[in-house]
Amino acid sequence: MARVAIVTGGTRGIGEAISLALKDLGVTVAANYAGNVEKAQAFTERTGIQAYQWDVGDFDACAQGVARVAAELGPIDIVVNNAGVTRDGTILKMDREMWEDVIRINLGGCFNMAHAAFPGMRDRKWGRIVNIGSINGQAGQYGQVNYAAAKSGIHGFTKALAQEGARFGVTVNAIAPGYIDTDMVAAVPADVLDKIVARIPVGRLGQASEIARGVAFLCSEEAGFVTGSTLSINGGQHMY
Ligand code: CAA
Repeated sequence: MARVAIVTGGTRGIGEAISLALKDLGVTVAANYAGNVEKAQAFTERTGIQAYQWDVGDFDACAQGVARVAAELGPIDIVVNNAGVTRDGTILKMDREMWEDVIRINLGGCFNMAHAAFPGMRDRKWGRIVNIGSINGQAGQYGQVNYAAAKSGIHGFTKALAQEGARFGVTVNAIAPGYIDTDMVAAVPADVLDKIVARIPVGRLGQASEIARGVAFLCSEEAGFVTGSTLSINGGQHMY
């Protein structure tokens, strides 16, 4: 039977590319999304991949979402924690809500989803969890204490859960994307983005499909010996 995957934030940007790459591997994909119903419906029409709405920052909603996908598509073998938001600003301008939103959604979402899906993976002795971190969690970024902290947390979370999953056949890895050509990066002021791109040795933004390819590898049968690792895909911007 085909493996079943949930990709959070799976209907847009990097998540959309991941959903498609897993579908190409023969995986049955459920693409989670938070709010943009119109884009999610268009995604389903375009790809044939079912979309499911819940907030990954909500612990109970994740438990219910995972149970619903399992009931409709089958037990969950693969979770890709891709959902994330930015609320950029220097610490002088960052209020408590900007901090809490990013930690709750980006980092809390990984815990909430893994907490819901891990027991089934343990029972079936097979699982793949891939967490989307960031170059900015590795290197820091001016104006992103919230996002850098959450993404850095994701890298620690990955290494800890990898140790717990290993004896059950559950691998846990992270990908650290650099600046990828998505709506999130397009929201960075143009003059700031130009300066960032000038520091990327490859000389361009990355494509969502270039991240998805890495996720597909980490989710494959052949990647069973890869766990606790971070794959940096950033055009050489940060060699870590
Ligand atoms: N290092 C040092 N100083 C910097 C700096 C930097 N990287 N960037 C800006 N500054 C300085 C400016 O020169 C300016 O100094 P002066 O006041 O002396 O002129 C001061 O800091 C204030 O800068 P801004 O005018 O830019 O401040 P702002 O409040 O208008 O904006 C900001 C701040 C929102 C952080 C804006 O600079 C910004 O959007 N930066 C980009 C942040 C970023 O890269 N976000 C990534 C989003 S995509 C993503 O996160 C995906 C992923 O995983 C990679």
